[in-house]
Amino acid sequence: MAGTLSSAAALASAASPDRIVLITGSNKGIGKEIARAIGSLPDHTAVLACRDAQLGAAAAAELAADGCSVAFSRLDLTDAASIAATRDYVEVSFGRLDALVNNAAICFNDPTLYGKVPHTPFEQQARLTVETNYFGSLAVTEAMLPLLRRSRASPRVVNVASAAGRLRGSPAIQRAISDPALTVAALGALMESFVSAAEEGTHLDAGWPNTCYGVSKLGLIALTRVMARDEAAAATPDGLAVSFASVDPGFCATDQNNNQGHVPAAQGATTAATLAAAGDQGGGAGMSGRHFYEGREMSWTYGVPLA
Ligand SMILES: NC(=O)c1ccc[n+]([C@@H]2O[C@H](COP(=O)([O-])OP(=O)(O)OC[C@H]3O[C@@H](n4cnc5c(N)ncnc54)[C@H](OP(=O)(O)O)[C@@H]3O)[C@@H](O)[C@H]2O)c1
Repeated sequence: MAGTLSSAAALASAASPDRIVLITGSNKGIGKEIARAIGSLPDHTAVLACRDAQLGAAAAAELAADGCSVAFSRLDLTDAASIAATRDYVEVSFGRLDALVNNAAICFNDPTLYGKVPHTPFEQQARLTVETNYFGSLAVTEAMLPLLRRSRASPRVVNVASAAGRLRGSPAIQRAISDPALTVAALGALMESFVSAAEEGTHLDAGWPNTCYGVSKLGLIALTRVMARDEAAAATPDGLAVSFASVDPGFCATDQNNNQGHVPAAQGATTAATLAAAGDQGGGAGMSGRHFYEGREMSWTYGVPLA
């Protein structure tokens, strides 16, 4: 299906033989390059899931014109109805999903994004950042898991994290977030407790790192590990278990940092695209729950000794 922009109606009539990969936040930056990499592979279709319908449709049309096999659905991480609508679109169009790339995120990286946006006080960044990057990605994953379980080969979730999400904070925070028995519910409570502490100005006293974005990505890496463990435990001997990986794309030149990064977005997209594509590149149960950077497994502590 190379070079096609697929409509739901066109696809609904027949189950696609392609590997179907949904990428959130794919109208620009790293996500668009992941979609380009996936959509240009033989027998792969990239589903661009973007919060702005016009921007998403334009990106999909551009990639289709470049010879990629792509489809598009509107999805906002903070809008449950749009997540459900995207799940329905994928189910009707393809009957299943083979890989999900949770790429979309926001970042109050610089307080004013290099003068481009008004200053947002730390206590006002916390809820939006954690609800978008952590709880939004969790909601998309939970919505798509039933479709991933219908995949015929190597179903995967790839969470685009960051070096900002390396394991840090007080020893108690680090112990709690890396607890091998951590549950999704308990991790959610930890994320909520960070937001409350940040809003009250007590997050440093509580042992949290001084970054809303970093905590949201810390949560996403922890979530990768928890969901990988739970999925492996639930797998039947004859069933395909969904595997999970988190990825650090490196410091890429995108709007997130006003293009201050030194890695081209296409290069930053490579590891996530490789993990989401068909084949054995780091895939399968052996990679599940791990964190990757530049095509290799990377320690969650980034080599920094634990406090
Ligand atoms: N750039 C880096 O150096 C770097 C480093 C480490 C990790 N990352 C991670 O890489 C991923 C991609 O970032 P990027 O650098 O490509 O940033 P970007 O160019 O700013 O793109 C971010 C994407 O996320 C979308 N998005 C934001 N909020 C959303 C929401 N509520 N619902 C749906 N989509 C939403 C944006 O949509 P709109 O266009 O509508 O805003 C955009 O498509 C992110 O997870 C980021 O944290 C980036």
